Amino acid sequence: MDRFEYRNNELFCEDVSVSEIIRQLGTPCYIYSANTLIDHYRKLASAFSEVDSLICYSVKSNSNSHILRLLAAEGSGFDVVSGGELFRAVQSGGDPSKMVYAGVGKTDAEINQALDLGLGWFNVESVPELENLRKITSERKISANGALRINPDIDPKTHKKTATGKKHSKFGVDIEQAANIFKKYARHDYFHLTGMHLHIGSPIPDAKPYVEAITKVMTLIDSLRFDGYTIDTLDIGGGFAADYTTGQAPLLAEYAREIVPLVKDAGLKIILEPGRTISGNAGILITKVLYIKKSPVKTFAIVDAGMNDLIRPAMYDAFHFIWPVEVSENYVPLRREEKPDMTGLKKFDVVGPICESGDCFASERWLPPVKRGDLLAIYTAGAYGFTMSSQYNSHPRPPEVMVQDKLTKLLRKRETYQDLIEPEIFD
Ligand code: LLP
Repeated sequence: MDRFEYRNNELFCEDVSVSEIIRQLGTPCYIYSANTLIDHYRKLASAFSEVDSLICYSVKSNSNSHILRLLAAEGSGFDVVSGGELFRAVQSGGDPSKMVYAGVGKTDAEINQALDLGLGWFNVESVPELENLRKITSERKISANGALRINPDIDPKTHKKTATGKKHSKFGVDIEQAANIFKKYARHDYFHLTGMHLHIGSPIPDAKPYVEAITKVMTLIDSLRFDGYTIDTLDIGGGFAADYTTGQAPLLAEYAREIVPLVKDAGLKIILEPGRTISGNAGILITKVLYIKKSPVKTFAIVDAGMNDLIRPAMYDAFHFIWPVEVSENYVPLRREEKPDMTGLKKFDVVGPICESGDCFASERWLPPVKRGDLLAIYTAGAYGFTMSSQYNSHPRPPEVMVQDKLTKLLRKRETYQDLIEPEIFD
């Protein structure tokens, strides 16, 4: 599943000792496994190989240029949601004709940038956006393709902040209104609406919500085709799970087994927008224990990474498995179990240095008896880790490192105090 494993009681990323990387680069530090990333991409591509599929890796999950470059070399397209992501994807060798662009607030400048580059599909989120796309393409006499993002009113049974396909969400157009919108706007000299787009939320740890949403949209597609409209593309979005705890993410082939039969004979190009299922388990965040602090009711392991480095636990109450990088014989190997069956474990709250109570990576978590100076690995941090990081409390952002087999490459250096004030203007 991924290439982080314990060898002689010590965590390795592929063939490189994590402690060795940290000796050189310090903490906190993001470490990515290139072969894990590639393996996840290939498994997804092979799971959907029965259909005419295009994988558009979701840049927001991890947008480091080196990661994008690696995936572009595998043939991946990209799902972007801003001019900045489009810039990164193109800079990294991505083919714009294999890119989709979603987002409810595309600016005119971003639309023009995408048109200049020859973007594959605009995933259109509203009628005013459709009208704007028609206006800009007409004025510039440039053709472009669009897919109408449908809000199918499906509950993906995920965190409320990451559910996007329910009636009250800001994304897409209501499925009840979609047929009329499509009929009114499908045909145009320059902006060709020939696709449908779905992204109902994330992470979605089983295929059922996809089946429900795709079934609804296929009914819509069938009826529009019956009325003579051309629909050649269905983008089913992202949201395929990563393994935050053991067995939480189904095999990609299991999603495909349920989804492929629904679309196999429909003569559609099927686009997928996976983010975390590719990048999530390809990255860990390493942090150092600064202090063990005991209160009458708690034992805190205070670490040097904070919610500024990885915000998911604070923002979504997300579970991330945490385990020491070096452990004694008794505690190896053990991965991603919330309540491990081991003697001698102690309960810790793993907290960061940020001045907010929400700066907590894990509460009442069973860990081997860690002490000051120990390194902890926070797993499944390859997605929405660094991309959601900030300099809050004026902490410079951590470095990002990639390992491939025996090789280690620094992808992004640690920010400095000078970086914190660089954009500020001093008269
Ligand atoms: N496509 C669209 C249109 C999206 O909005 C997203 C994620 C994806 C694809 C990729 O979803 P994925 O396969 O990575 O689950 N920051 C949150 C997740 C928010 C995702 C927003 N959209 C987190 O840390 O869980």
